[in-house]
Amino acid sequence: MDRSSLINAPITREMEDFKRLFDESLSSSNLLLQHVIEHIRRKSGKMMRPMLVLLSAKLAAGRVCPATLQAAASLELLHTASLVHDDVVDESTERRGQLSVNAVFNNKVAVLSGDYLLATALMQAARTRHLDIIDLISALGRDLADGELLQLSNVQNRQFSEEVYFQVIRKKTAALFAACTQAGALSVDADAARTETLRRFGEYIGLCFQIKDDIFDYYDSKDIGKPTGNDMLEGKLTLPALYALNSTRDPEATAIALRVKDGKATTDEIARLIAFTKANGGIEYARSVMNNHRTQALALLDGEPDGPVKTALAAYIDYVVDREK
Ligand code: IPE
Ligand code: IPE
Ligand code: MG
Ligand code: MG
Repeated sequence: MDRSSLINAPITREMEDFKRLFDESLSSSNLLLQHVIEHIRRKSGKMMRPMLVLLSAKLAAGRVCPATLQAAASLELLHTASLVHDDVVDESTERRGQLSVNAVFNNKVAVLSGDYLLATALMQAARTRHLDIIDLISALGRDLADGELLQLSNVQNRQFSEEVYFQVIRKKTAALFAACTQAGALSVDADAARTETLRRFGEYIGLCFQIKDDIFDYYDSKDIGKPTGNDMLEGKLTLPALYALNSTRDPEATAIALRVKDGKATTDEIARLIAFTKANGGIEYARSVMNNHRTQALALLDGEPDGPVKTALAAYIDYVVDREK
């Protein structure tokens, strides 16, 4: 079986149920909102987060229940809301291979529709009737915003800090993946130890996911469905550049990097900093950090019984690390 079949095999039927619930949750009597929702529905994402919720429940209990599906819908809605808002914040015009909501409509419509999606996510969380899942998802909403704000303030930081980089990605991305595995476990009343193991597994996956996403930004790609080369334009220095800067302390590269942070670097300077990063092992370093996280994630599955669900989770993390989009 290929990797995507391995991931999907244990949850094919359940993903159909999830999609039905997800679609049902997205309705509105407001005409403008209907247009926005129609636009968002036209291109679905990879559905990485709901798959992870379902697989976690299956690993913990061999089954999913209605609360699992509701938690999955809630988390995919929260993710979607965060992307709609993210494209406003990043002034980005492309998402999932089509125009972003802010580009088709405008910033005001995108902010308000993102709010609507966020509120819908909380309604789905409430429908689980699991107080611990409601707690988890509400706290997650804060973490996502907190991570984005930390990232924003870090632009002013004159240091090239890996520590801050990890704080940011832990909150803005890994927290969501950790919530997926944790909510999956909680939805089937897994015990505390199992839930914590799965939470940590999800967190490692999320760290890998964002490091991989950040590596994409250093290359031109038409298949990825969103612009690359945007991070430095936004003043963001990610793991590959941080490594190259800190390990070489090259004065010219440092000067360009500070101009990137000030939003003053030219496209030519950005191209030079990207080339410098590649020439000084930044990409290899980021890949090796990602692979270490992958190894640690897989070690967490050691105690779990072998079978199609464990195989699917291992294939899932391999996909995250090897994916091309
Ligand atoms: C994009 O996530 C946001 C990041 C954390 C980098 P995905 O790449 O999973 O987005 P979709 O849902 O498949 O579009
Ligand atoms: C993705 O962040 C959105 C969140 C994690 C909230 P980025 O801005 O880094 O990712 P893309 O490249 O736009 O998907
Ligand atoms: Mg962003
Ligand atoms: Mg963005």
